[in-house]
Amino acid sequence: TTGGTDDQKRRAGERAADLVTDGATVGLGTGSTAAFAVRAIARAVEEDGLDVRGVPTSFATRELAREEGIPLASLDEVETVDVAIDGADQVDDALNAIKGGGAAHAREKIVDAAAERFVVVADPSKTAATLDRAVPVEVLPDARTTVAARLRELGGDPTLRSAERKDGPVVTDNGNLVLDCEFGAIDDPASLAADLSATPGCVEHGLFVGMADEVYVGTDDGVEVRTR
Ligand code: A5P
Repeated sequence: TTGGTDDQKRRAGERAADLVTDGATVGLGTGSTAAFAVRAIARAVEEDGLDVRGVPTSFATRELAREEGIPLASLDEVETVDVAIDGADQVDDALNAIKGGGAAHAREKIVDAAAERFVVVADPSKTAATLDRAVPVEVLPDARTTVAARLRELGGDPTLRSAERKDGPVVTDNGNLVLDCEFGAIDDPASLAADLSATPGCVEHGLFVGMADEVYVGTDDGVEVRTR
């Protein structure tokens, strides 16, 4: 969550929800912006009889979708997704993104990558010419020291993410830890993404390079659609 307003996020989420057609398998993203899309899809299910099955990207989104009455499928029973709608922490002009502010990026990346069409929903506070936010790296608990050392070799400054209402670290939906790694301005996201993916013990990192087909940026009076 960053500085966008709820109205901006709602416009982006609702516009993306309009892409969902009858019979679709839909990737349901995580975070406050994607939640607006989830609620809009639920309204279409309830009011228009839209026939969908949602694939949640996190525990939190599964809870929300279930409460809202969207029929669900679990990730392990789905081969492809028609459209995935997901938030981001930062998006650049080439539609590369940093995700994982909610520590959900591993499952998000699986669902978003399986999607025929992957739409990022964001607000203007998330857009940047060059990605420069900390990159969340989900690590196997036993690998946190070796992965942190490798991140430093790559020029990064990793910090173990700690929980707000618990003494100790954040544990992901997959039972792992998260290192938030500052790299400063990331001039070559594809190369950094490849280095992170090649690090043993790194379960998944939050750089989503060349994945998004569109970014919907909700503004104060509409939605700016960015395409590649
Ligand atoms: C979850 O791990 C993230 O990838 C989210 O998609 C991201 O943090 C966006 O959340 P907001 O829409 O609340 O900013």
